Amino acid sequence: MTNLIDGKTLANTIKEEIALEVNEIRENDGKIPHLAAILVGEDAASQVYVRNKVRSCEQVGFESTLIRKDTSTTEEELLAIVEDLNNDPEIDGFIVQLPLPKHINEEKITLAIDPKKDVDGFHPANFGRMAQGLPAYLPATPFGIMQMLDRYNIEVEGKECVVLGRSNIVGTPISILLSRKAQPGNATVSLCHSRTQDLKSHTLRADIIVAALGIPEFLRGDMVKEGVVIIDVGINRVDDSTAKRGYRLKGDVHFEEVAPKASFITPVPGGVGPMTVTSLLMNTLKASRGDIYGK
Ligand code: GUN
Repeated sequence: MTNLIDGKTLANTIKEEIALEVNEIRENDGKIPHLAAILVGEDAASQVYVRNKVRSCEQVGFESTLIRKDTSTTEEELLAIVEDLNNDPEIDGFIVQLPLPKHINEEKITLAIDPKKDVDGFHPANFGRMAQGLPAYLPATPFGIMQMLDRYNIEVEGKECVVLGRSNIVGTPISILLSRKAQPGNATVSLCHSRTQDLKSHTLRADIIVAALGIPEFLRGDMVKEGVVIIDVGINRVDDSTAKRGYRLKGDVHFEEVAPKASFITPVPGGVGPMTVTSLLMNTLKASRGDIYGK
């Protein structure tokens, strides 16, 4: 039987838990968590994501600040904003929404963020701490996936996991988290990518597949075994003139073919997507409490 992993409902449950904690902080006259987001340019998807992050802050009772800059913003100007936020004691954590306009070096910006405020978990200091199993801000999508596996009591230990895609923000970190000596964790992980030979031989053996390569409906029914657990990270806009917005969201998994064989599967939309925002909220709460780096 196929079970749907309902990321939307789980994200709302976690938001309610965070809201209760914020109430407690307020009653004890503590510092209300404050997230800032910098959005540069007009990327349509980024605008939706950032709006969603700010709205989610309001839902749980956090303070939020949105800094919008136009596409012509220079790297120096952006670095100055990052520096201001690093030094602003009111701001517990902040994110710079990616992608940035081409004339701005994303790596340089990421490196300029104080790791203590890097609630996206993109700074190499946080990535390295995560890889070594030290307390760290985990990147939002992998953190959300681990929460899903945990809360749905999906057995990970000793399982064969196949990760499709080796990006810095999803594929590589989730492969580390799944193989870590932790709960959930202790899996045997294969990190597959565009140069992998005979990909199907890997996916057919997998107990758990995390698809994060950004190709709509890449994973087909004949590539998976019965009972597989599917985590679909893809959010691809596919042109469709019959859809109201002119496009439909498709995952990296061919849902109609794969779902009948899966024991658990995340839908798109409504699966991994909503969980990324709750990860960010959880990291911001940790930042305000000094859980990772102290006060
Ligand atoms: N672009 C796509 N995903 C993310 C994310 O998690 N954080 C930021 N800052 N930008 C993104």
